[in-house]
Amino acid sequence: MSRPVVVVTRKLPSEIEAQITERYDAHLNRNDTPLSAVAMADAMKLADGILCTVTDKITAAHFTVPSRRTRVVANFGVGVNHIDLDAARTAGVIVTNTPDVLTDDTADLALALILMTSRRLGEGERHVRSGAWSGWRPTHMLGRSLRGKVLGIVGYGRIGRAVARRAVSALGMRVQWWAPRDPVVDDAMSAGPEHATRAQTLEALLATSDVVSLHCPATPETRHLMNAERMSQMPPHGILINTARGNVIDEHALVHALREQVIAAAGLDVYEFEPTVLPDLRDFENVVLLPHLGSATVETRRAMGERALENLAAALNGDAPRDRVV
Ligand code: DGY
Repeated sequence: MSRPVVVVTRKLPSEIEAQITERYDAHLNRNDTPLSAVAMADAMKLADGILCTVTDKITAAHFTVPSRRTRVVANFGVGVNHIDLDAARTAGVIVTNTPDVLTDDTADLALALILMTSRRLGEGERHVRSGAWSGWRPTHMLGRSLRGKVLGIVGYGRIGRAVARRAVSALGMRVQWWAPRDPVVDDAMSAGPEHATRAQTLEALLATSDVVSLHCPATPETRHLMNAERMSQMPPHGILINTARGNVIDEHALVHALREQVIAAAGLDVYEFEPTVLPDLRDFENVVLLPHLGSATVETRRAMGERALENLAAALNGDAPRDRVV
């Protein structure tokens, strides 16, 4: 009996690729370059299942491609804003994602950015590497302490709450959060810290937070949620952190806000025009820039692969995938 055809759009951890090759007629991406729109359309005609990543834009045109064979798109990642979900639904294609398994590592990275920006760690590292450091002195490169400061979390899903727990227990921060809807907390371990308070409005949260960390999904409603006006509602010593999706911030407005000292610093792991980073952003000493590393650990990328495979297998077998988005 012929095996299902699976196209894998990027290079995956080798143990995951080995499992895919064992189970399926697998088309792996050996040189790890992103698929073009044409290659994605071809994949839709060739494969029963596509295992894709955040770097693949899967549009309505892909879901309506003539002679489409694809029945399931299993995303390696939790965010699915790169996939036209309405078109998938209309076409009857199953879309899955990989929640839970990347929560802790992504929250850790948000915490790292909070520390890096408030304690000027990127700047300090560059200073030492450049050979400019002349030794310890009492007034050198002073940052801001986080203890007792207020962290404002925008979006209080699994990752937002994991950041909140860490900020309280590891940094001694106070936490407030804002989200348009009540969070769904399925187990006590994933709840937010006891004393976290809900801000009445996003504007109130921005005005009263020392650090603002974004943890909302990318949707039409959250595009440019942090625009010029909202940044101006933050205090001048405010720090903005983004480990969610790039276009939640209007990046040109961010450049302006940093240049005019409307806010004090920013820590970014994701970018509006990813993988392009605005050249102006690279010039600021008070901006920390990471290359979308939120879930980038050996353990988590393996777990994401396992989870994507589990979803793919269920859908191809006609069973209900655990993480069905559409
Ligand atoms: C996610 O899971 O959404 C990460 O950003 C990688 O796609």
